[in-house]
Amino acid sequence: MTTIATAPATPSLRAGLELERLGPGFGAIVHGIDLRRPTEVQMEQLRGALVEHKVLFFRGQDLADADQVAFASRLGKPTAGHPVAATAAAHAEIYPIDSTDPEFSFSDEWHTDVTFMQTPPAASVLRAVRLPDTGGDTSWADSQLAYESLSEPVRRLVDGLTAVHDGNREWGAYLRRHGGRGNEWDGRTVTGLTPVEHPVVRVHPVSGRRGLFVNPGFTSHIVGVSDAESRGILDLLYAHLTKPEHTIRHRWAVGDVGVWDNRSTAHYANRDYTQPRVMARVTIRGDRPVGPTT
Ligand code: SIN
Repeated sequence: MTTIATAPATPSLRAGLELERLGPGFGAIVHGIDLRRPTEVQMEQLRGALVEHKVLFFRGQDLADADQVAFASRLGKPTAGHPVAATAAAHAEIYPIDSTDPEFSFSDEWHTDVTFMQTPPAASVLRAVRLPDTGGDTSWADSQLAYESLSEPVRRLVDGLTAVHDGNREWGAYLRRHGGRGNEWDGRTVTGLTPVEHPVVRVHPVSGRRGLFVNPGFTSHIVGVSDAESRGILDLLYAHLTKPEHTIRHRWAVGDVGVWDNRSTAHYANRDYTQPRVMARVTIRGDRPVGPTT
């Protein structure tokens, strides 16, 4: 375990967060913090650690729904739990991911949360509520490491590309079943899922690092190339993004909280369980993705 100061060494920040790295590239367990009452100094350090380590885990937190929303509100501005899916009755910021729900949608495809909206969330806060005896892990891929480990000619190719993200495949039927009325997103009630365009390479608004910003969950195609070219490029990028050395995997325990940066990661919920699995997710409002200018 190392103690890493993630902010300039002003006296109030000297203590640092206790971070246990999960691999050479990204991911860390954060020790010694109670998410029900983090100090402002800890929150400032957490924001920095999230950009640097991309996925943070907090073991043994005993959060109720209201505590999770309160913590997420310290991290940023929570969005509705989901643009389309039903949210928790008492907390519109919570998206219950409940495998016992008849309309449950497995997240067993690599994706970055809600990229089918023009302003996808910057970060997600996921809490393990009920777990199967075994299985139900989540994996994350580091999209910046993946971009940086591409060869230079391929980086140059993808730097200039734009992709379409379409939520209809995953959520279109759900929205229709619910009378075409979703939740409020970006100040408007979602009544349809118009496909949106994002750069294939996203420049992180805080670190300035570039990362791949396409995912098999929501990206439908690349703009301005043939179908065959689009498929070939996306297949190449997905295979590269999800190489084992670009990924980490978390075995959940009830009470764990995971926080990830959607601007630099993709994730995958392993569908290998037969008993109920219930998670609660809150997402934090993000910017419109921006690509490289050179
Ligand atoms: C998600 O896709 O945001 C949830 C992941 C999970 O349930 O593990």
